[in-house]
Amino acid sequence: MTIPSFVIGIAGGTGAGKTTVSRLVTQNLGDDVTRIPLDNYYEDRSELSFEERQEVNYDHPSAFEWDLLRDHLETLLEGRSIEMPQYDFEVHNRKDERVTVEPTDVIVLEGILALHDENVNRMMDLRLYVETDADVRILRRIRRDVLDRGRDLEGVIDQYLSTVKPMHERFIEPTKGHADLIIPEGANSVAVNLIEEKLHAEIEGSAVRNWERGSLERELAEKR
Ligand code: CTP
Repeated sequence: MTIPSFVIGIAGGTGAGKTTVSRLVTQNLGDDVTRIPLDNYYEDRSELSFEERQEVNYDHPSAFEWDLLRDHLETLLEGRSIEMPQYDFEVHNRKDERVTVEPTDVIVLEGILALHDENVNRMMDLRLYVETDADVRILRRIRRDVLDRGRDLEGVIDQYLSTVKPMHERFIEPTKGHADLIIPEGANSVAVNLIEEKLHAEIEGSAVRNWERGSLERELAEKR
């Protein structure tokens, strides 16, 4: 059984490069890392029609199922597996299937509001905020939403002005105050290398502690 030894939160505005940071800092960890996209914890909206789901404010904290996220993080921290929901951006809803996720040494939670919830923040060992200029972020967002999420340009612009931008200013940007480190621009290699080194040191430390615990238990068992 693996008890996770290090939990990282990666927050930042839409298109800031959170996923890139998450991928780069964990690229050499192999199977020792579990990535949890906050998007998977968008509330189930099956009770709404597609048209109604298009109107939801997905940048407000109330769009997420925080109880489930807290519960899943706690479960992983106790060394037990979870059934993680999956999200479909094209239909604006959760998929039917869930994915079994086993606890690993390192857990990374990434998403626009990854540093929003006090209880979730308390479970983290390192809180990162990726800060990227708004013009770069919206350009990335337009490209991604049109190419990967089945959206049209007019819709992306309307959504950005009506909800994405105001919610960023009201809820996302203020979470910078909870961050231990602010990373200027996603693929900043100096920051990425430092965090990567920290993770390796944590994993090695945890392997030594586990080995020491194991040998102590063996010693005690022999004496019994
Ligand atoms: N969103 C949406 N439609 C939905 C659900 C979410 O358009 N049905 C949008 C929200 O408006 C929110 C964004 O998805 O702003 C969150 O994803 P984002 O942070 O842009 O994606 P990441 O890949 O996490 O970001 P990054 O580019 O920083 O890696």
